[in-house]
Amino acid sequence: MEWKDNSVIMIDQTKLPNSLEFVTFTDFNQIADAIRTLVVRGAPAIGVSGAFGLALAALQSDAEKKNDLILYLENAKKILFETRPTAVNLAWGLEKIMEVANQATTVEEIRTDVVETAKKMAEEDIQINMLLGKNGSELFNDNDTIMTHCNAGALATVAYGTALGVIRATKESGKNIKVIATETRPVQQGSRLTVFELKHDGIDVSLIPDTAVGYTMANGLVNGVIVGADRVLQTGHVFNKIGTYQVAIMAKQHNIPFYVAAPLSTFDLESNPEDVIIEQRKASEVTGIGDKKTAPDGTDVINPAFDMTPPELISGIITENGIAKSPFQESIKELFAPN
Ligand code: MRU
Repeated sequence: MEWKDNSVIMIDQTKLPNSLEFVTFTDFNQIADAIRTLVVRGAPAIGVSGAFGLALAALQSDAEKKNDLILYLENAKKILFETRPTAVNLAWGLEKIMEVANQATTVEEIRTDVVETAKKMAEEDIQINMLLGKNGSELFNDNDTIMTHCNAGALATVAYGTALGVIRATKESGKNIKVIATETRPVQQGSRLTVFELKHDGIDVSLIPDTAVGYTMANGLVNGVIVGADRVLQTGHVFNKIGTYQVAIMAKQHNIPFYVAAPLSTFDLESNPEDVIIEQRKASEVTGIGDKKTAPDGTDVINPAFDMTPPELISGIITENGIAKSPFQESIKELFAPN
């Protein structure tokens, strides 16, 4: 994802792995559509997209007074915010840009400052992922096979990835590792995206159906699990792609460490588990694969996009500031304490 010549360029993830296509946006409404339709997805990527969206809005508006531009941005923020409810990075990215806009005094200053801030957020995302990756790489050994669910890679961030960032950093540290990627039904972020980017980087990856998690663990094929997150609470409850909870339970049953990798921008220190909205997506994602129907017409569907994994199933939460471990309330607080 990149800001270039006052426009935003990103990979259309809905087209992968069949074709690698880039799309260019100049209107914040296009960014909102892209988030809604999963052209761009993954919590950090959505956060930076939101920020880029507001930067485009600032350029689009013909407001001549600060108050009018702020009103325009507030409206754009609302439209962008309502695209997807679970990943807290979206609110984080939007709030950060609004703060900068409110602090500026003239419309010219707002335009320059929001564009520069959004670009900086994109650059920082890469640095943070590299730091986080390095912290997590110490948890894995030479010849380990690491399972991951969904896609928490370069495609889900600006670059490098969170969970896949840890995998990349482990490999870069000289350890030989293999990855098992779950398919991740219903929209297959695992098979379409994780396998695509790991193969692209020459990292050894095997794809399994989601239903083979128990089999691979019971047969000693997995040494550790690492996933990303859409929202981490102060209590250590982790919201991530649907199916993460099942993988964590299975890991516990087989004494396999289960790690979460997430930047501090994914933490929500205010909400309680019951406050978090789990996005419910359309039935057609479950009644078919791509354009092919796999269930009878009129089938009732339950299609939550995320689930919650409780802290007792989590061995550690890897961030750019270190690794939080149980008891999470205290260790998460420490991650946010200055120094
Ligand atoms: O519905 P998605 O594809 O946006 O869900 C993505 C995930 O659940 C990822 O694991 C999470 O956002 C972390 S990405 C670094």
